[in-house]
Amino acid sequence: MNSARLEFPSNFSIEQNWRDYSADEHAIWRLLFERQQHLLVGRACDEFLDGLGALGVAADGIPNFRRLSDVLDAATGWRIVAVPGLVPDDVFFAYLARRRFPSTCFIRRRDQLDYLKEPDIFHDICGHVPLLMNPVFADYMQAYGEGGLKASGLGHLQHLARLYWYTVEFGLITTQEGLRIYGSGILSSAGESVYCLDDPRPNRIGFDLRRVMRTRYRIDDFQQTYFVIDDFQQLFDATRPDFAPIYREIAALPDIEPDALIGSDRRFDQGPFSGQPNPGKKMGRRLIAAQV
Ligand code: PHE
Ligand code: FE
Repeated sequence: MNSARLEFPSNFSIEQNWRDYSADEHAIWRLLFERQQHLLVGRACDEFLDGLGALGVAADGIPNFRRLSDVLDAATGWRIVAVPGLVPDDVFFAYLARRRFPSTCFIRRRDQLDYLKEPDIFHDICGHVPLLMNPVFADYMQAYGEGGLKASGLGHLQHLARLYWYTVEFGLITTQEGLRIYGSGILSSAGESVYCLDDPRPNRIGFDLRRVMRTRYRIDDFQQTYFVIDDFQQLFDATRPDFAPIYREIAALPDIEPDALIGSDRRFDQGPFSGQPNPGKKMGRRLIAAQV
């Protein structure tokens, strides 16, 4: 057992200690929140913006998990649990399967506004939690947790982790107004929020479960490929079947490189998709670590 494991209870939960945030930490939240709020109009999907509004997460400062959980619980039965950082896979999956979202409590420093390797409270709360207000997405996340426990028993975590990466973290969705963002890794990043929709370089490909599970991903730069769902019901329905035979099927096939295209790909036209003026100013890249 390593020392990190000895410091925390087996479920890794801690107290948020909301009263202990400094004025400067609240000010960093405000800075991040106001910047994203501005960028995400016309870029984030309505389900996300509606969830954010209904949760009452606001620009004024770091939210209190207890209050947020009460609003979230009333809507979809999810609650937020404070954790110190990335937790082991089995702990993470077990939380999701019980409709508990493990969130970090610390906020990045001022010199990390654009670039942070691990998730912080801004990524977890502003990126992930608003969509948990949506009933279909809320069910998808629970099903993912159950699927994670199963995949780990079958030795296929790597394939399942790609599904999380290309949907929960970096997913795009079609709307009548064009493509929109629902992936948290994008939504909490100023640079990637613009890049994923408006830059001509990345591939934007219609969601295909097997294709996603075969595709490797980069954690140290903007994505080279985004997968686009029609709506959350499509995602939920496509992931409902038993994955055991699907894992066996794709294990026999080669991985696909992050930037590669294959014959069956349903490609979207090149952007820009947001219809928003490009903010123009050079924006840094932000990294997030894979949770699974
Ligand atoms: N249907 C998947 C399985 O049988 C579980 C799952 C559901 C995984 C939703 C991810 C998302 O393993
Ligand atoms: Fe995340």
